[in-house]
Amino acid sequence: MSVQIAIDGPAGSGKSTLARGLATILHLPYVNTGLMYRALTRRALDRGLDLTDGEALAALAGTLTVDLDLTLDPPEIQIDGRRAGPELTAPEVEGAVSLVSSHPAVRAVLVEQQRRLGQGGAVMEGRDIGRVVLPGAPVKIYLDAVPIERAGRREEERGSDRSLADELARRDALDSRTNPFIPASDAVRLDNSGRTVDETLREALRLVRERLGEAPA
Ligand code: C5P
Repeated sequence: MSVQIAIDGPAGSGKSTLARGLATILHLPYVNTGLMYRALTRRALDRGLDLTDGEALAALAGTLTVDLDLTLDPPEIQIDGRRAGPELTAPEVEGAVSLVSSHPAVRAVLVEQQRRLGQGGAVMEGRDIGRVVLPGAPVKIYLDAVPIERAGRREEERGSDRSLADELARRDALDSRTNPFIPASDAVRLDNSGRTVDETLREALRLVRERLGEAPA
């Protein structure tokens, strides 16, 4: 299958779990675009770059080598030949990534790379996939959950006593200035509050089959 599936939604909405699950079942690459913004932020911080300088950041973005690691199931993005590690979820990265990703020049570079990665079909997740990166994708899902559940999920994933709810709310507020949290007009909104991972995955698969004109399993 070489179909494009776009999944958007705020931080902690369960996008990654859903996107990876769909990619595994449908035998498609899983492209987590947040990792690209995170990797750029990490590199900019390491080099002491001015994070308000969009042109310098865009030039740095152009030096990232992003491709698919086809040895993984599902294939996933790797940056400069390496899989994402814990350095990309460090607090200093989460604190700066919204500023880095707010620059149109940065987005232009990364969106082009994302389109290239999605060319042969992919499940791609982010904030602007359905509206900007893959506007022609036949399946678009906008995933949401109430804030308290989103914070709870992150806590389970990462383990922390910091105020994760505050941190997510802060990042969402900044991110929504760059990409308003508005689903694409042809996206289906799934609110997975109170649902298990499996329930959300089943609902998404039903939607995929409906959109692709296949009979439900
Ligand atoms: O999805 P994740 O939370 O890992 O994304 C990290 C950050 O990358 C977001 O908070 C946002 O600032 C940025 N991002 C973006 N556009 C995307 C994906 C992520 O601006 N498509």
